[in-house]
Amino acid sequence: MGKDTIEIIAAEAKQANMMDYEQARKEFDWSDVEQRFSWHKTGKLNLAYEAIDRHATSALKDKIALHYSDPQRDESYTFEQLRRESNKAANMLRKLGIGKGDRVFIFMPRTPELYFTLLGIIKIGAIAGPLFEAFMETAVRDRLQDSGAVAIVTTPKLVGRVPEAELPELKHIIVYGDESELAEHHIHLGHAMAEASDEAEIEWVDGEDGLILHYTSGSTGKPKGVYHVHRAMLQHEYTGRIVLDLQPDDVYWCTADPGWVTGTSYGIFAPWLNGATNVIRGGRFSPQDWYETIQRYNVTVWYSAPTAFRMLMGAGDEAVQQYDLSSLRHVLSVGEPLNPEVIRWGYRVYKQRIHDTWWMTETGAQLICNYPRMDMRPGSMGRPLPGIEAAILDDQGNELPPLRMGNLAIKTPWPSIMRKIWNNPAKYEEYMRIDGWYISGDSAYMDEDGYFWFQGRIDDVINTSGERVGPFEVESKLVEHPAVAEAGVIGKPDPVRGEVIKAFISLREGYEASDELKQEITRFVKEGLSAHAAPREIEFKDKLPKTRSGKIMRRVLKAWELELPTGDLSTLED
Ligand code: WTA
Repeated sequence: MGKDTIEIIAAEAKQANMMDYEQARKEFDWSDVEQRFSWHKTGKLNLAYEAIDRHATSALKDKIALHYSDPQRDESYTFEQLRRESNKAANMLRKLGIGKGDRVFIFMPRTPELYFTLLGIIKIGAIAGPLFEAFMETAVRDRLQDSGAVAIVTTPKLVGRVPEAELPELKHIIVYGDESELAEHHIHLGHAMAEASDEAEIEWVDGEDGLILHYTSGSTGKPKGVYHVHRAMLQHEYTGRIVLDLQPDDVYWCTADPGWVTGTSYGIFAPWLNGATNVIRGGRFSPQDWYETIQRYNVTVWYSAPTAFRMLMGAGDEAVQQYDLSSLRHVLSVGEPLNPEVIRWGYRVYKQRIHDTWWMTETGAQLICNYPRMDMRPGSMGRPLPGIEAAILDDQGNELPPLRMGNLAIKTPWPSIMRKIWNNPAKYEEYMRIDGWYISGDSAYMDEDGYFWFQGRIDDVINTSGERVGPFEVESKLVEHPAVAEAGVIGKPDPVRGEVIKAFISLREGYEASDELKQEITRFVKEGLSAHAAPREIEFKDKLPKTRSGKIMRRVLKAWELELPTGDLSTLED
């Protein structure tokens, strides 16, 4: 196919049946989606019930809901088994006095127990707080403190990163794994679940009650707790149907970890609300392992990220040819810009078009997508889904005409939009500063046919391998190192990871710049915060550019890095 593929896809896109798209937008009504849930008739609402229990009392009862494997384990669970396991988790938590509205964190690698527990938390109306297993002490502490979590479910290996002494509100530490390593006051998840009944009362909640709290990074301040509610299920179900295109016989695999929003909205909620068989693969990434996973389970729908596709591309066509990937029928991507080059390659080796989708932690679910019932345009994020209205606004909130770059904004509300930023109403208001719109922080333009094209972030948020990293969080950690006087952190363009983290550092008196010191500082961030937040590159400077009020000007650092003009320096200190 080679070079022509892109023209072929573009030509198809030109013939896109705009009428269909416009018609679908006109006819769309969220109340039609509501009718697909049992609460529409019973008035009893809980996302975990709709995702699991509802199927366990239907013809899907004995259908495989979860295929889990990692290098040590290999297990499958039906919807009925998931119902029972999550009931046990729910009962275990209830017995501890945990209930509606309490924040319960999960800090463990992907295992079946992670999924049982997360569903159990939701079943009792508590709010789940998933943490990425690579987080170190500072990252864990900040999130638990901010949310006032009452319990955490973790493993013997990770429990050492939970600073109990600094977390007075944390009453219960539940540990899954080798019991010989437990402290006396820790609760053993395996025992507690074994003792618990596998029948549980579901806590019926209001659609506006809390479901999940995902911490994510902005350009200033500590990570923010993005708060989602049960009603978001409308959009999870809907997008699972029209964007993931889940059909009864599909075997679906989302490669994201539940520590990130993609791993919950699309690793848990969307597939199970649609009654799909869901594949979870633990362990580390390797091209062989991933292809093996697709081949072994006959994965049909595959949702991953540009960095992963670029790494697979780097592993070469030969790696693909060693496996039978012919089960694949629909491939999607999210998290960063998806290069047309990658789409072209994917079309050649997988015989599949990789469909780009755009959304954010704050939006809770997909909003702008290339989805099967419309034609895709490589390099574009796609078009707003029926039910969603997007626009490009200038800073005053005026809608800009096609081809003009500006703020990517979405008309509020939609079912899965965040309801608040935990403890931080001012931050929430920043997103909503233009009446009737959610301001995403991304810049983009729209073409004449209504396709949206991503241009970049407006703020300093770094996107490395599809993961959002706040420069402030990294800078704060860096200046805790005794050698570091000041630090400024930016995202540096990278062909595989999109961006990598680069730190500019000025040293304290008495410290000499050296490669050893660079390594030590990197290790310090890795061990204190997390591996993905550690700088891949460090440059020592005598002085960092600062405003007169003392704020480090990341924009100037970025201009240095990219050898661009530094722009307006009138606020520079000297
Ligand atoms: C970026 C991940 C380009 C964007 C679900 C957004 C994208 C941020 C795309 C959200 C895409 C996400 N093309 N950029 N298709 N999808 N982004 O909260 O900058 O981890 O604001 O959510 O990732 O990252 P988050």
